[in-house]
This record gives sequence, structure tokens and C-alpha cells, in this order.
Amino acid sequence: CGIVAYIGHREAYPVILKGLKRLEYRGYDSAGVALLNSGLKVYKKQGKVADLEDTLVGKDLHANIGIGHTRWATHGEPCDRNAHPHTSRNGKLSMIHNGIIENYAQIKSELIKKGYNFTSDTDTEVLLNFIDDIHTNNGGALEEAVRIALKRVVGAYVIVLLDADNPDTLIAARKGSPLVIGIGKGEHFLASDASPIIEYTKEVVYVNDYELAIIKADELILKNLGNEKVSPFITKLDMEMAAIEKGGYDHFMLKEIFEQPNTIFDCLRGRLDATGGTITMSGIQKYADQLTTANRIIMIACGTSWHAGLVAEYIFEEVTRIPVEVEYASEFRYRNPIINKGDVIIAISQSGETADTLVAIETAKEKGAIILGVVNVVGSSIARASHGGAYTHAGPEIGVASTKAFTAQLAVLTMIALKIGYIKGTLTEKRYMHLLNELNDVPEKVATALMQKDKIREIASKYKNASDSLYLGRGYNFPVALEGALKLKEISYIHAEGYPAAEMKHGPIALVDEKLPVFFVATKDSFHEKVLSNMQEIKARKGKVIAVVSEGDDAASALADDTITVPYADELIAPMINVIPMQLLAYYIGVSKGYDVDKPRNLAKSVTVE
Ligand code: G6P
Repeated sequence: CGIVAYIGHREAYPVILKGLKRLEYRGYDSAGVALLNSGLKVYKKQGKVADLEDTLVGKDLHANIGIGHTRWATHGEPCDRNAHPHTSRNGKLSMIHNGIIENYAQIKSELIKKGYNFTSDTDTEVLLNFIDDIHTNNGGALEEAVRIALKRVVGAYVIVLLDADNPDTLIAARKGSPLVIGIGKGEHFLASDASPIIEYTKEVVYVNDYELAIIKADELILKNLGNEKVSPFITKLDMEMAAIEKGGYDHFMLKEIFEQPNTIFDCLRGRLDATGGTITMSGIQKYADQLTTANRIIMIACGTSWHAGLVAEYIFEEVTRIPVEVEYASEFRYRNPIINKGDVIIAISQSGETADTLVAIETAKEKGAIILGVVNVVGSSIARASHGGAYTHAGPEIGVASTKAFTAQLAVLTMIALKIGYIKGTLTEKRYMHLLNELNDVPEKVATALMQKDKIREIASKYKNASDSLYLGRGYNFPVALEGALKLKEISYIHAEGYPAAEMKHGPIALVDEKLPVFFVATKDSFHEKVLSNMQEIKARKGKVIAVVSEGDDAASALADDTITVPYADELIAPMINVIPMQLLAYYIGVSKGYDVDKPRNLAKSVTVE
């Protein structure tokens, strides 16, 4: 979910509405605003922020203080009733919430005994009425009731409260979910990330866990849950507005796909010196000893970031000879994981806010592990919870299906692996230098791969009506196949399965008939001949073969019904290039089916709940 709030001299509604649109990547099941101006007005609507906006045309929206929310449903179906903001029983308090209150059922039953009725199925309404109950019984300041309530709460939250009796104050608190406060002149902006704030001010405060903020137009007070004042630490944002706008492309996803030559370049810049033979990464350098002597590296991530971890597993094991495990954060955290001395954790996350990844690294940290973050969003929760690491510098990724973050993650992970392999001596000087040069060439090769867009669009229109599909690859390209399948599923709602090309014989081959498109990642590498055999096996069963092949590889092209050529790269480096056609294919199929590719149904960009 995304939250926005404003207090100051401007009209609150336009600020909140614009902010919510920027935060829709966090969920778009419903949206709502609460405004305070001689009484509380709450408007909410199932669907996207634009649907809310439509219903509010002509309404009295004048106010200088307000809160807004865009929801990704957890407790309770997406509908108007469950949309935020929620209102307390006495109609005085309005609250927005991102996170999950785990012990809400217990608190709810206590409140029901006290005569509270609930109009929604949400945990948020329970927390709000819990605060209201304490406030009503204890009297005193609302912040006091919030503090008492939060001490009882188990779970993750960021909340912002509006109180009709105190029209000059917002109260906010966080634990586990992000909250940024923008500091303006006589005004404050609150949001889940900096994107709704950036156009007004570059001075922000990242609120920490267990902190409570009491915000007036010209005053910000931070306190811990023990009621002691904490001094706000002001950071300067270095993000530009242009980075969060579409820049002439039809969709953010397309813009982000096409940005990749630049984002990969930005990620390598200042770090990789291919001529001098050096890789400079200060946040990794500090932990170079731990990494070179590590007994094991565990990569923790979700979704596309998990696929980047899988590619990195192949690269790390090859060049550093350190055993690597790649774990889904949600599985890792709940199975009493074994962490031994000498294990290093690498957490991979675009947003830096994925709840499962965050909790997983916190669990590992408690067990004494070193945590390195490979994160895109600067100052995000995962970045701050890590001991060290490296940012991917891909810029804001707005399209829900991850693209440029993935290639930047691969660039960073490859640099770490090469650096460690070189220090350890498990990588020869010659191979090291070769791979540095190959890495240096990636932006240019990605740009060449992007030039296949028209061909890919044609292929997309040919296969867009498929109901199922297979994605196959081997070795470094196996995770690329997984990522290709994930992209297609997310954007076009076509069932897609990624599989190791050889393993396909143990099941998926039963699906093959003349209707089934089978996408191969079949560029030249050490398994190339084997992949060609797998293509033959599909052809023999009349499946349609669509292959990503290296430029000039006639043998592979001859076996495929359709081919997409990409520049050859060393197999360790090739995934960054080979994934480009996979992204474009999913994009064009999704668009040709008329779907909202930037906001596919049911998904969220940042899954901030577990
Ligand atoms: C969501 C997004 C995916 C993303 C995954 C992990 O599912 O839709 O695109 O790969 O979360 O997110 P993270 O921000 O941790 O990389």
C-alpha cells in the first residue's frame, strides 16, 4: 500500500492525489482521501486512483490538511468498504495504514465486547478503534493513545492519523513499513517513498522503526515509543523529477526497458575500470575479507530479484568457488535457517521494501550473519538494515514488472563475483580481464538487442493468443528462461513455465503440441549443442520454437520457427543481454491484448506485507 499526507498552506487534495498516482506501484485495489476543513470528509473508491479522482469531480475538496491511501488488499477483499482511510466510531479520527497488524483478531474481539461495530474487514479499522478506545478512556493527547496502542500491536505498520479536534496536527508512526517526511517552508509532506515529495522539497527525514511523529505545518517532533524526543536526521534527495516521468514512451515499462543501456552504464560507472583492471565498490570492499573467506553465500530475494540471485549463483560458484544458495525470502525466514560463522548473506531487492526480504535479513542478522544489500532504492529499509552492499543505481522503476532493476542487479552481482574471484585467485588474470571487458561492452550490446524491437513485436502478435507457453534455457540462461516466463505471466496473463531445457523431458514435454509456443534462450555458450538437441526434441513433437540466438548462428536459426538475434557475449555476461528480448516480448504481447502493462491486475510493485 502507499500513503501520502500533507499539512501546510497549499490545497492538500491535489498534492495527495498526485502523490497517490506516483505510489500506485505499491498497490491499486482501491484509493481514498480524508480532508479536514470544518469537519472531516472521507472519500474512497475501489479501483485505481484515477477512478477515485473521477468520482470526486465537483465535490468540496478544499482543505490544507489531509491524508490519502492506495491499497493492495490483504485483510478483506478490494471494495469501497475496505478502502482507506478508515474512520473511528465517533467520526473524529481518520487513519491510513500500510502493513499488517498480526494480532488484530484478539484486539477486535476485545473491542466487540466493548460494543464496537466494524464496517470493514480490515486490520486497520481495528487498530484505529483501539486507539480511539484508549483515547476516549484516558483522555489527554491523541499521541499518548497512539503510543499505548502501538505497544500492544504485533506486526508492521506505518500509520497517519487525522483528528477533527486537532485540525493543525498530523500524527504518524512506523514500524517495518517506510515513511518519509518532506520538509518544506511552513509545510510537511508525508509519503511511503520520496517520489510524491520530490517536486516540492529535497529535504527529507526517513522515520525509523518505533518512532512517532507529531507534525504541524511548521513543526516536526519525533519521539520514540518511550515518549523521548529524537532529533530528526535530515537527508538531501538527489533524485530528479524527470526520472519518475514517462518521457514520451507509451508506458513506464517500455521506457524502463529502453533505459537499460544507460542504467547499466550508470551502474558500472565509477566502479568498473576495464583498462586498469579494477572494480571499486566501497560498500563491498569493507567486507571483502568476509566474502573471500566465506564458507557459503546465501542470496535472499523475491520475484525477479530472486532470478537475479539464481544467475549470480552460477557466476559466483564459477569464479569464486564459494558454494551459493539462493533462497526465497518468504521460505528462508520461516524455516529456522542454518546460519554458520563464515556465511555471508546477499539480499537483493529493487524497492528495498519487500517485507519478506527485510524480515529474512533481520532474522539472519540476529544469528550473526553479515548482510550485504544489492538494492535500487537509496535509503530504503533493506539498504538501511544491511551492513554493507552496493546500490544498483537504475533510477526509479515504476512499471510493476521489473526490467531495468534486474539487469542492474546482474551488473552489480557480477562485479562483486569478479572482484572476489580475482582477490581469491580462483579467477585467472586473463579471464578476469576478459570478463571486465565483456562487462564494459554490455550497455552497447543491450542497445543492439533493443534494435530487434520490431521483429519482436511481430513475433508477439503471432503468439499473443496462446493459452500456455514454455521458456527453456540451460546454465546461465536457465534463470533467464524463468524470468522470461515470469514477465509473460505478469504482463499478458498467459500461463508460462520456465524450465531447464533438459529437465523439460521430465514433464513439460507432455504439454507440447502444434499450438504450444516454446521460447528458447539459445545463445552460444558451453551448452549450446545440448540446447540445439532440446530444440529438435520440441520440433519433433510439432511445438513452435521461438529462439533467442547469437548473431550469425545459422544452425540455431534453422531449427526455430522464429528467431531473435542478439550480440554474442561471454556466457557469464550474456543473461543481461538475453533477457532484453524476453522483456520486450512480454511487453508487446501485453499491450496487444489491451492490458495495463504498467499495473497488471492483482500485483504490486512493492509487496510490503508478508
Ligand atoms: C513484486 C514485484 C516484482 C519484484 C518483487 C520483488 O512481486 O511485482 O517485480 O521482482 O516484488 O521486489 P523487490 O523490490 O524486493 O525486488
